[in-house]
Amino acid sequence: MSSSPSERGEWSSKTGFILAAAGSAIGLGNIWRFPYTAGENGGAAFLFLYLLCILFIGLPVMIAELSIGRHTRKDPVGAFDAIRPGSAWRLVGFIGVFTGLCILAYYCVIAGVTVGYIAKTLSGNTTSFTDYTASPMVTIPLLLLFIVITVLVVQGGVRNGIERWAKILMPVLFVLMIVLIIRSVTLEGASRGLSFYLKPDFSKITGKTFLAALGQAFFSLSLGMGAMITYGSYLSKRDNIVTSGILVSFFDTLIAVMAGLIIFPALFFAGKNPDAGPGLVFEVLPVIFAKLPGGALIGASFFLLLSVAALTSTISLLEVVTAYLVDEKHILRRKAVWIVAAIAFIFGLPSAMSMGAVEWLGELPLVGMSFFGFMDWLFGNVMLAVGAVFISIFFGWIWKRAKSTAEIEQGCPNYGAWAPVILFLLRFFCPIAIAIVLFFKFRELIAG
Ligand code: TRP
Repeated sequence: MSSSPSERGEWSSKTGFILAAAGSAIGLGNIWRFPYTAGENGGAAFLFLYLLCILFIGLPVMIAELSIGRHTRKDPVGAFDAIRPGSAWRLVGFIGVFTGLCILAYYCVIAGVTVGYIAKTLSGNTTSFTDYTASPMVTIPLLLLFIVITVLVVQGGVRNGIERWAKILMPVLFVLMIVLIIRSVTLEGASRGLSFYLKPDFSKITGKTFLAALGQAFFSLSLGMGAMITYGSYLSKRDNIVTSGILVSFFDTLIAVMAGLIIFPALFFAGKNPDAGPGLVFEVLPVIFAKLPGGALIGASFFLLLSVAALTSTISLLEVVTAYLVDEKHILRRKAVWIVAAIAFIFGLPSAMSMGAVEWLGELPLVGMSFFGFMDWLFGNVMLAVGAVFISIFFGWIWKRAKSTAEIEQGCPNYGAWAPVILFLLRFFCPIAIAIVLFFKFRELIAG
């Protein structure tokens, strides 16, 4: 995927694309964000809503993004412009790129903490998550380290570097997760965790649950800001967009569901609270590691593999912003990555200092969240949902139906039969459903 402004790369193979897209999708969103969001929003009822969101909203939006990207072979801003030249639609692409930059910034903070946990676990240091992240001397260097690693990989070429490692390490993560599930569900009191996670209590669903589930679906699938437009732009015309989208969504969802099976039984075993927030996974996992022979080593390996999963996600975020600078601003790729990295580091600083280091950043006036929480809420939930509304409308109403169908039919000859369903979802269901959720969220915000 090395591309100078004039020549655009392509994935080395079909599996190369699926791995890269799955690598983008699978990350801290599945293993860190999904469990604590589910925990804060009633467990099983949230899981149920989440699965519906993936199927009826995430999947169509994924197909829309991939096909817009492959058709135009452009970054998000250029893609909208290519289909609707000179219109305000490029603004949607631009907002997406900016959202990606902001997600990259705070995502690297928690990814850095994950790297820190490798050493922390190995050395048997039992400091709590809260105390650990309270030190800016820990969070800031780790943030910087993670951004620099991301840049070096993106510069070195995604294909030779990360594709090869991810191919080996992601299956290892999968196997390790199976081991952890087995250990966790056989802990004493595990059944209470399982019923919290799997037996829905629908009375727990509120407007807040809906936005959380929807936002989590977009975040986890890397949708709503053009990452899949960018990745689709490197896709070959022979590839099947529909089956690729289904495969990526399936694996992403599987990993998230598995993470829940690890966390919730252990959480109830340890007598902790499911609504502990962003520290949840970091507090609960050590409980399981302690119950395994060679726990420190297993724990350290787990955090190492999780760091690799996070890296394949930050690569995609950096790639979107870089593709924009390369394609639209004609900045050399080598230079563009460092520019983006520097901005991401600066944007990441307040988040890194909001987990205990600087008091007012930990509890922002007016919004009542930490700076980190606010970034995640605004960019990782709201802005992705807003972006997805526009992407659905663009695919459903602006892009000529004959053109989008012809694009997807390349590589997926029987798409014609499915086109009415996908078009119905993208024209009516997705924009309306997302807009309603956003509206209620907005009203809740104003009211209180
Ligand atoms: N999906 C990734 C995760 O679950 C995070 C991510 C990578 C992302 N690229 C994205 C989220 C683009 C939103 C948009 O960890």
